[in-house]
Amino acid sequence: MSGLAEGWIDLSGRIALVTGGASGIGRASARALAAAGATVLVLDFNEAGAAETADLIRGDGGAAMARALDVIDETAWTALGDWIAETWDRIDVLVNSAGVARFDRVEEGMSKTYREAFAVNVDGSLFGMAMALRFMRPAGKGAIVNISSTASLKGNPAMASYGASKAAIAHFTRSAALECMRAGGDIRVNAVLPGFTDTAMAQAVYDQFDDKLGGRDKTLAVFAAGRPAQPEEIANMVLFLASDRAGFVSGSIISVDRAQGA
Ligand SMILES: NC(=O)c1ccc[n+]([C@@H]2O[C@H](COP(=O)([O-])OP(=O)(O)OC[C@H]3O[C@@H](n4cnc5c(N)ncnc54)[C@H](O)[C@@H]3O)[C@@H](O)[C@H]2O)c1
Repeated sequence: MSGLAEGWIDLSGRIALVTGGASGIGRASARALAAAGATVLVLDFNEAGAAETADLIRGDGGAAMARALDVIDETAWTALGDWIAETWDRIDVLVNSAGVARFDRVEEGMSKTYREAFAVNVDGSLFGMAMALRFMRPAGKGAIVNISSTASLKGNPAMASYGASKAAIAHFTRSAALECMRAGGDIRVNAVLPGFTDTAMAQAVYDQFDDKLGGRDKTLAVFAAGRPAQPEEIANMVLFLASDRAGFVSGSIISVDRAQGA
């Protein structure tokens, strides 16, 4: 452990939950939080991937556990809350990173893709926030980081439902942040808007567009600011927002995208 995480940000003694922790931005965030001293619960419906992330964290000398969770299952969130009440009885940090991309167009009707994108990207994050607040509200402190997207900032002719779902969660972030501040205490809720990031989800974009657009360089020109972000570059912002260093930051919607959404 070295650099930023070692001295400037200290999450020792904190319990952090990361959904979508089996892969990409979720995995990088889980590792960053653990490197800063948090005990991380890695959540994903990909149980093997979540366990692998926890193994990586323990291999780095950090503390982590993994648990299967389908974020669209509200009952499973309640069961997770009951388990946490028995285990730690606290949640200091929640990162909602589980997400799915869907390729669709408004003129196609898109009822299936719309429901799938909203179920995971919106419902999943809302269930997570409600469950975390069950612990954060009585404690009067906590940090929630929702992973939205630069796709929330403007229209997208190929991923209409995805962009709308990410705009919805950014807006719910603002409302949740206000609710928490007005209730008193120190609970902060923020959203990170990654630009195109080199993960399994990006691979789906490559698969969908490389042929149509004329190759990888053209796909990157359309979807990324020259190059995709590495997941760790997004995780750095997640780590900051999860920490006390971001003590006056709440209700903020923060792009990490090298001007991609500008
Ligand atoms: N990769 C990008 O270019 C990019 C850009 C902007 C925003 N994002 C957002 O970042 C977040 C992480 O995506 P990523 O790029 O790391 O993709 P990823 O595919 O690598 O990771 C997504 C993770 O979410 C998990 N997941 C999906 N549905 C789930 C469910 N119902 N329950 C539990 N887990 C579920 C997957 O198993 C996977 O581990 C997503 O919310 C995504 O929308 C990604």
